[in-house]
Amino acid sequence: MKQLIQKLTEVYGPSGHEDAVRDLVRAEIQGLADSVTIDPLGNLIAIRKGKGRGGRKVALAAHLDEIGLIVSHIDARGFVRVTNVGGVRPLYAAGGRVRFTNGAIGAIGVETRRERPDHIPTLNDLYVDFGVARAADVPVRVGDVGAFMGAFTVLPGGRVMSKSLDDRAGVAVLIEALRRLKTSPHEVAFMFTVQEELGLRGAGPAAFTFEPEIVLAVDVTATGDTPNGARMAVALGAGAAIKAKDTGLLVDPRLRDLLVKRATEARLPYQLEVLEGGRTDAAEMQLARGGAVAGCISIPCRYVHAPSEVVDLGDVEAAVGLLVATLSKPIEL
Ligand code: CO
Ligand code: ZN
Repeated sequence: MKQLIQKLTEVYGPSGHEDAVRDLVRAEIQGLADSVTIDPLGNLIAIRKGKGRGGRKVALAAHLDEIGLIVSHIDARGFVRVTNVGGVRPLYAAGGRVRFTNGAIGAIGVETRRERPDHIPTLNDLYVDFGVARAADVPVRVGDVGAFMGAFTVLPGGRVMSKSLDDRAGVAVLIEALRRLKTSPHEVAFMFTVQEELGLRGAGPAAFTFEPEIVLAVDVTATGDTPNGARMAVALGAGAAIKAKDTGLLVDPRLRDLLVKRATEARLPYQLEVLEGGRTDAAEMQLARGGAVAGCISIPCRYVHAPSEVVDLGDVEAAVGLLVATLSKPIEL
């Protein structure tokens, strides 16, 4: 899992530019599904047919994309102004590096006069500096997209740090579940979705096409275990987080309870999650076509949307186990 997550996080893939991530996932799942398709939006959908009786149509989603920046204008001295692609937090972005689709790398500067102790930088305070002397030498154009840099690093205690663990950790969970799932009564669509960070844009149409009865997103969630951090019950290393509610989804209690039961039976560590600010692909999938019973398995992650996101590999492993345990048996709600 560690190597797979490393490979996935090292690939460039801001929203709308998921090609390289999609290619990598397609290679990793080669031969594991009954069909693999790419829909017009770019979602990669691998379908595994069910065997035996009592099967349902289940859709799983993990998003391929990561947050990024897009060039809005370039000043006469060659400083590049940007706006957000997804939920960029300027405080996390300032001082870091951004890599554009053509490979150009720039430093993210902050207007120094605004760098006061009481001022949290906004996107308007940021610029990208390519070290050039004039606008003509800037290696990007208006409309070019970039992603933050943040190298994959192994931390002590089975934890890893990287950019884009949101949601490459979830992508790794889906790939690994597809590998480990031997038999299932269910017809399962493993959906690797695009443009989640721009407002869950890929998942809804993908679910509309597949028409699932049950949907599950696998994505990261925040934790409440850092100094003066968010007020929430989720902690890093305490197991897969079974979502109860977030901004876009109130999980069907029957599905939530079933996930708890499966985790308990399989002796997998789990915790219950209420996230006060944030949504996942499940929010859109539950509303596609005639609607679906929706839930979410979350991977606790510190510093979501920072270039140094941190997850615990034990939590990732628990998420895989929970997914496989759930899909291996009938789902009676
Ligand atoms: Co995100
Ligand atoms: Zn995410």
